[in-house]
Amino acid sequence: MTRRCTLVLATLLIICGLIILMAAAKPQPHPSVQNSQAAVPAAQIKTAEEAFKNIQVLKGVPADQLIPTMQFISASLGVECEFCHVKGAFEKDDKKPKQTARKMIEMMFAINADNFDRNREVTCYSCHRGRTSPVGIPPVLGAEARSMSELTQTQAEGKQNTGPTPDQLIEKYVRASGGSTAIDKITTRVMKGKIEFAGMSYPIDIYSKEPDERISFMHMQEGDSVTAFNGHEGWMSMTGRPLHEIRGGELEEAAIDADLHLATHLKQMFSGMEARGTEKVNDQPAYLLVGEREGKPPILLYFDQQSGLLLRMLRFTETALGRLPTQIDYADYRESDGVKIPYRWTLARPNGEFTVQISELQQNVAIDDAKFVRPFAPGGTEANPK
Ligand code: HEC
Ligand code: HEC
Repeated sequence: MTRRCTLVLATLLIICGLIILMAAAKPQPHPSVQNSQAAVPAAQIKTAEEAFKNIQVLKGVPADQLIPTMQFISASLGVECEFCHVKGAFEKDDKKPKQTARKMIEMMFAINADNFDRNREVTCYSCHRGRTSPVGIPPVLGAEARSMSELTQTQAEGKQNTGPTPDQLIEKYVRASGGSTAIDKITTRVMKGKIEFAGMSYPIDIYSKEPDERISFMHMQEGDSVTAFNGHEGWMSMTGRPLHEIRGGELEEAAIDADLHLATHLKQMFSGMEARGTEKVNDQPAYLLVGEREGKPPILLYFDQQSGLLLRMLRFTETALGRLPTQIDYADYRESDGVKIPYRWTLARPNGEFTVQISELQQNVAIDDAKFVRPFAPGGTEANPK
């Protein structure tokens, strides 16, 4: 056991002991009263509001359950008593988390009363899972669950940004990528390589054309699996299957991936930017930049502290019930035509991930516009089957 644990335990024992002593010191009911209530033993047990000074929502709870209840709350949130309580004055309501906790207790009672026949199905732990801010976003495969505020570090004081400003981060990224002149000179990019997922590997060809067209062909035994964006429409197709239309938030994501000049376009994508200190991306120290977008979830960008290149992009698709994350890790940057390009990237979502490794790359070669024309779908689309 660590020293801190021992200390906490000792404090707890002292507190519990004190409370038992306090309770014992209080005048006991007259024996006759006790006898007359013998038929209803429950009435002999003190309630929390009788034994303690300032009980508002845990009324009717047996007094001897109050401290275990507090331990349950502490364990559920992963905090110590002082997170909510003023030392030595547990009845005081000076700390905001204590007031919030009252509302949460009422909410928990209401959730169970309204939805689970008063059975205690949902508890503090159901949502909190050992942390003060519950996680509302399923993590991408292999990542730890973190709430939006943990991801963007809005609550972590002391993690205030002391590094470069957002403008400096983007400027360094543009410079590291080859500079805006070289970047903007790129009009097309053709990449060949392989894509790996679920232990399988397939050849893949990716064609990009400015301003925002991109199509990829994954060559499988059954035929090609195609993912495409032509500037305003996106689709996925598989030989023998109906066309899947890409819509809404996913379409915006496709547009980001199709942008050959992302480095020089980053700034105008955001309505606001904040640098949020340092983070590790696969053991590499990185600066985190949070890009805010009007009415849309933010995009988190992690820049390599040394090279300034983009190591990770974490973005979210809005749904009716919550946000779905997509995380792309970029690696194996190589230079081609004066610009630095990641030859490897891993795209991860909650339900899976894939890695693309590029082996051949050509830029500024002609790509026929016909390549990006949405195919006629004989079977109709998933949304509008014929
Ligand atoms: C997340 C916030 C939170 C934490 C952590 C917490 N408590 Fe509480 N505590 C409360 C709330 C809220 C009440 C008041 C409940 C009510 O109004 O019914 C309370 C009441 C109490 C009271 C009654 C005080 C009085 O006289 O009215 C005691 C004693 C107490 N807590 C002890 C503890 C101990 C010991 C711990 C650590 C093991 C702890 N609490 C951890 C929120 C918390
Ligand atoms: C249905 C989910 C849910 C349940 C159940 C729940 N909470 Fe919460 N709680 C939340 C969310 C979400 C937040 C964060 C709100 C925010 O970030 O503004 C929160 C915030 C809090 C906070 C404020 C934390 C801080 O950093 O100041 C406290 C304290 C708290 N909850 C206590 C409790 C206690 C005690 C229980 C059990 C009685 C409980 N919660 C049950 C969802 C829940």
